[in-house]
Amino acid sequence: MADVLVVGSYNAGFTIYAPHLPRRGETVGDARFDWGPGGKGANQAIALRRLGIDTCLVTKLGEDVFGDHGRDVLLAEGLPAWGILRAKEPTGVAFILVEADGENSIVVAPGANLALGLDDVMALGDEAGVSRFVLLQLECRTELAVDVGRWARSGGRRVVLDPAPARALPPEALAYFDIITPNETELALLSRALGGPDGGTVEAQAAALLEKGAHDIVVTLGQRGALWASAAGFQSFEAYPADVRDTTGAGDAFSAALVAALARGASLPDAIDLGCRAGAYCVSHDGVIDGLATWSALAGMKKGPAQ
Ligand code: RIB
Repeated sequence: MADVLVVGSYNAGFTIYAPHLPRRGETVGDARFDWGPGGKGANQAIALRRLGIDTCLVTKLGEDVFGDHGRDVLLAEGLPAWGILRAKEPTGVAFILVEADGENSIVVAPGANLALGLDDVMALGDEAGVSRFVLLQLECRTELAVDVGRWARSGGRRVVLDPAPARALPPEALAYFDIITPNETELALLSRALGGPDGGTVEAQAAALLEKGAHDIVVTLGQRGALWASAAGFQSFEAYPADVRDTTGAGDAFSAALVAALARGASLPDAIDLGCRAGAYCVSHDGVIDGLATWSALAGMKKGPAQ
């Protein structure tokens, strides 16, 4: 039995650090390459493990070289073997372009991730059925997050959805998640798809989701921190300073740290503060995995100018 069950994607990630994005037909030289494990589900599960939380990841890898590598990495991070499933489809892959200012553009071929369903999670029995928290994203089929969210919440678990990448949700699904952690793009899409404001302020868009049945919304705002929206109103959280190198995975680091803090008994405001620390730590490192912090690294972070 784990404290946190993460159900989600694994992608082998291939990152090019380039001075700028190529225009159509252009070749950009002077780039640097790296590859390694990724995928929002795997990143979040590894982040939770590094923060000392007993975590299980349920994910699907292909029967190929990237799947074998992914399994080795996940086991080495201390994630249990029983959640690492295999599919006949190829392992998911992500091609990531990072520009000089750290902003990224990503293309994902999800492969085996699309074969993951609620039936796979339920087939794991009590191993997957008794965690206190469940953390989900939208990088597998949308129905996976909706189905697992409904199932987990009806079983009394606290369910957190990081709605990334940006996708619409059916209106009834908002109530399945105790906390939803969109960035501004994801919030705008969720709001628009549910008939809320098309444009307007973050507050207005978050309020529209609350009206449609969402519980707590925590909007990540990058270098402007975060905003918590609930029935009680709005609360802003200051960002931690960061020397931005690569923004890939900042949302994963934030959501995982928020859940890690809750699993340790923190209040939601304190959990949001830890999420802000984890996001700042992540963007200050190249790649995602090197940017997933330990508890002591986050505890030592201070507000003020970037070091
Ligand atoms: O959130 C970052 C992740 O999104 C990367 O690891 C990559 O797999 C992409 O899907």
